[in-house]
Amino acid sequence: IPVQPFDYVVFGATGDLTKRKLIPALYHRFKDGQFDEQSRIIGASRSKLGDADFQKAAREAIAQFVEKEYQDEAVIDRFVKIFSYVPVDASNPEGSGDLGKALRDDPKVVRAFYLAVAPDLFEPIAEYLAKKKLYRRDARVVIEKPLGHDLASSMEINDGVAKIFKEDQVYRIDHYLGKETVQNLLALRFANALFEPVWNSAHIDHVQLTVAESVGAGTRGYYDESGALRDMIQNHMLQLLCLVAMEPPASDDANALRDEKLKVLRALKPIANGDVARNTVRGQYRGVKSETTSVAGYQDELPEEKKGSRTETFVALKAEVENWRWAGVPFYFRTGKRMASRVSEICIQFKPIPHSIFDHAEGAPRPNKLIIRLQPDEGVKLMMMIKDPGSGGMRLREVPLNLSFAQTFSERTPEAYERLLLDVVRGNQTLFMRRDELEAAWKWVDPIREAWDRASEPPQPYTAGTWGPTGSIALIERDGRTWYEDH
Ligand code: BG6
Repeated sequence: IPVQPFDYVVFGATGDLTKRKLIPALYHRFKDGQFDEQSRIIGASRSKLGDADFQKAAREAIAQFVEKEYQDEAVIDRFVKIFSYVPVDASNPEGSGDLGKALRDDPKVVRAFYLAVAPDLFEPIAEYLAKKKLYRRDARVVIEKPLGHDLASSMEINDGVAKIFKEDQVYRIDHYLGKETVQNLLALRFANALFEPVWNSAHIDHVQLTVAESVGAGTRGYYDESGALRDMIQNHMLQLLCLVAMEPPASDDANALRDEKLKVLRALKPIANGDVARNTVRGQYRGVKSETTSVAGYQDELPEEKKGSRTETFVALKAEVENWRWAGVPFYFRTGKRMASRVSEICIQFKPIPHSIFDHAEGAPRPNKLIIRLQPDEGVKLMMMIKDPGSGGMRLREVPLNLSFAQTFSERTPEAYERLLLDVVRGNQTLFMRRDELEAAWKWVDPIREAWDRASEPPQPYTAGTWGPTGSIALIERDGRTWYEDH
């Protein structure tokens, strides 16, 4: 269904995010007919460019970041025509630039401002927009991480934006929420009758959340100030936890859903002081050099002045959601760079059967597991016990009931930003983080960070291309459990 015509202003139009994510995402939606030439994309930044330069940059972004099979010259020609550019200095309310001439004063044209810039510019830009009379009560503003490095700084950023924009105008992106498979968690849980009755501590033994990446981190400038806890757990993985653990909302209304997510974040048992050493493990990868491979360690990738950094490139931790549904069910998190493979998945492990009649049989029954694979090879797998075919007696085998999305659907899976950018136009905040959620997440993460900062020992080393430091294996094995690994 096509969206209303819009004027999308992108601050930071010459930056990396615009090129890699925003332009390709908008192109795909345009190509699929979700909007047309009645909409405008207006680049704004300090560079002294003209419309033609921005259109050229858009073409280049498509050539570089859209898969060849979707590059259609006729569509690209039409698409870039909706691009214009205004040089703007919005770093203070009196700044220069005439954005007004590019915007239409028509209430039927949605007005959205995407701030693809550093967070310290959010407040000045918001004030600039107000001062230049470009703010409208129905305008939308899109911001994304890093939304602070702790609770205090995140509140400061939110306060800055809130000086001008009301909460119902603010769209905080966590791109994980835009992923098809992440949204599928909602469908899986709330569009099927099968799971909800067993989705609780009476039937679930524990939950594992893994986001493993094979790429390194050291060459990404921001990473050393951030580390895996802030970069992945505070946002993406806590959002995943929310979707797994929340109560069914009463409707698909954005606030109904976000209220339930917030309750999960507020029910997280604090991990502070002495509990930090027991329930968390942080690691940093070391390089490998052999005849066949050579991978740099985190320290080797850092510039001279940052050598010796204690930033964690891996985190494992055990969290608990203290409420009626989840009492006693641990949630084990694990994320890292330079791990053995790239995989994001959630494993729900059910309790063992209460009584086995198969004790004499080969292969004792193993607890059922529901594996939700977010990427790559998206799908859902239910691990079940069956009788091994054949006449060799009652042998049991664990096999997957396997739903592979690639095999089931032939359509291309849209990228997270495609959904999110147009949800802004639709005025649908469901897949965006509300301020209180963000702050509840920081509140839980901060004490962990603080205890690490006080600790005398550095992160545990792990070899690039493995599943992390041995401490992370000990973390789960201490509870008589093991990490699920099928790769
Ligand atoms: C980003 C992190 O938010 O998410 C990166 O800053 C990380 O460090 C990325 O690589 C992972 O996203 P995806 O979509 O590749 O899983």
